[in-house]
Amino acid sequence: MKRTRWAGRAVGRWAAGGALACLAGVGAFLGIADRSGLPTVPTPKATEFPTELVSRGAALAAVGDCIVCHTADRGVAYAGGRALATPFGTLFSTNITPDPETGIGGWSKEAFKRAMRDGVSRDGRHLYPALPYDHYRRVHDGDLDAIYAFLMTRPAASAPAKANDLIFPLGFRPLLAGWKLLFLHQEEFTPRPDRDAEWNRGAYLAEGLGHCSGCHSPRNLAGAEETGDGAYSGGVAEGWVAPALNGASPTAVPWTADSLYTYLRTGVDGRHGAAAGPMGPVVHGLSRAPEADVRAIATYIASLSADRAAPKTPSPPDHAAEAAKANPAGATLFAGACAGCHEGGAPMMTQGRPGLPTVTALQLDRPDNTIRAILQGVHPPTGPAGPTMPAFAASLTDAQIADLAAYLRSRFSDRPAWTSLATAAAMVRKEDTQP
Ligand code: HEC
Ligand code: HEC
Ligand code: HEC
Repeated sequence: MKRTRWAGRAVGRWAAGGALACLAGVGAFLGIADRSGLPTVPTPKATEFPTELVSRGAALAAVGDCIVCHTADRGVAYAGGRALATPFGTLFSTNITPDPETGIGGWSKEAFKRAMRDGVSRDGRHLYPALPYDHYRRVHDGDLDAIYAFLMTRPAASAPAKANDLIFPLGFRPLLAGWKLLFLHQEEFTPRPDRDAEWNRGAYLAEGLGHCSGCHSPRNLAGAEETGDGAYSGGVAEGWVAPALNGASPTAVPWTADSLYTYLRTGVDGRHGAAAGPMGPVVHGLSRAPEADVRAIATYIASLSADRAAPKTPSPPDHAAEAAKANPAGATLFAGACAGCHEGGAPMMTQGRPGLPTVTALQLDRPDNTIRAILQGVHPPTGPAGPTMPAFAASLTDAQIADLAAYLRSRFSDRPAWTSLATAAAMVRKEDTQP
């Protein structure tokens, strides 16, 4: 079974377990164990909800990515059971279809909203912040009503929760009270009067349901996001680097609201590359959200890097001759396995696909995304039908991948060379095949 690493909320540091264990003490000491249970209600009938409310809920749930985490591989939509590998062990998402026994069929609107805002299940147990309630807390009441209506009108599926497998003592939920005390302070979104309506709509969606910073911000040892200047300075998700989206964005060509819109809506922008790895499902959700909402998110995200210094070179670098001289093995592999798609003049390149000089993966401090793209391939999630990239895990050795990555870096970037590439390739390969 392939596990989703923290489903995009990767902290990636086992030390975090220790930190959380300390918080545990805080929670236990303060005696803020589990909260009170809320009574079950008769499952509302689908006909109770106006269609307009349900379709608004569908659009909001698409921005919130609920289906990604709450659906197992080849499982029933929203019936849960997806394994999320966290630095603290494996956590399973739960059934949020309206099944009264194993889902949320017996949940009142109040119980649902409490789970989304305070991370407390109907029966009073604390929920793990893998459900990004630190973001969903910012969502307006009426929007949570709409998501509730949407979920309650999905087909009910019987699927009991799977047991989590967390390191001691984190399976003990009352400990989460300590985490919340320290890190759960977000308030409902309030618009900024100095910005226009579109920016505010984008900020509301990105900071709330979209939980973009959940992957694009670094996290502390206890798995809480950095805020302030650290926000959007880049994070990790399922072993992929989620690049900085603020002034520290490493892209060769600065993002604009238009290019962000194209990328977020279709999964590929001609000047930046494709949405690979865990960004794929995000784009899949956004491709079904209202167009104006995606434009608003693009406007907000573009404003984060508005102060970014102009790139050093007017056009993205392509040092083909030097790179081939420095790394003949990498150049030969590229010519044989990759150039048919990626070299200028290749059919794919003449269809307006992004060229490697503008792909962010080659500009990042870490080689992880380049290595993962070569091992796993790239499958643009939506948008213009076109070539996908095959996985090379079976046909290239770690040493060959290292040669290729080194070649691509020196050819298409002016940044320092990556080091220990063969070790990195071996590690990524191992993570990908973990049980
Ligand atoms: C990043 C993964 C992720 C995303 C995105 C996500 N969830 Fe969850 N959700 C989880 C996990 C994991 C749990 C179980 C947490 C636990 O057991 O403590 C959960 C639990 C829940 C619960 C509590 C269920 C129960 O029985 O206690 C509700 C309700 C819920 N999610 C609704 C949603 C909705 C609605 C969305 C979209 C707006 C959403 N989730 C998006 C991972 C996610
Ligand atoms: C589950 C984790 C996750 C979430 C949530 C997420 N992203 Fe990403 N994002 C990534 C990863 C990983 C990449 C790198 C993909 C690649 O290398 O192709 C990425 C890439 C991007 C890029 C391209 C950056 C570049 O310079 O190439 C943009 C723009 C972006 N995300 C915007 C967003 C926005 C806006 C949201 C919220 C609506 C969001 N992301 C939510 C993980 C995430
Ligand atoms: C069949 C065509 C094809 C072949 C062969 C191919 N690629 Fe790709 N590659 C793509 C496509 C498609 C994308 C996504 C960008 C796009 O949509 O244009 C991509 C993206 C990438 C990216 C960026 C990943 C990211 O995170 O954004 C890298 C790096 C890359 N390829 C390297 C290689 C290397 C190295 C080889 C040879 C071992 C190779 N590719 C072979 C089609 C191909």
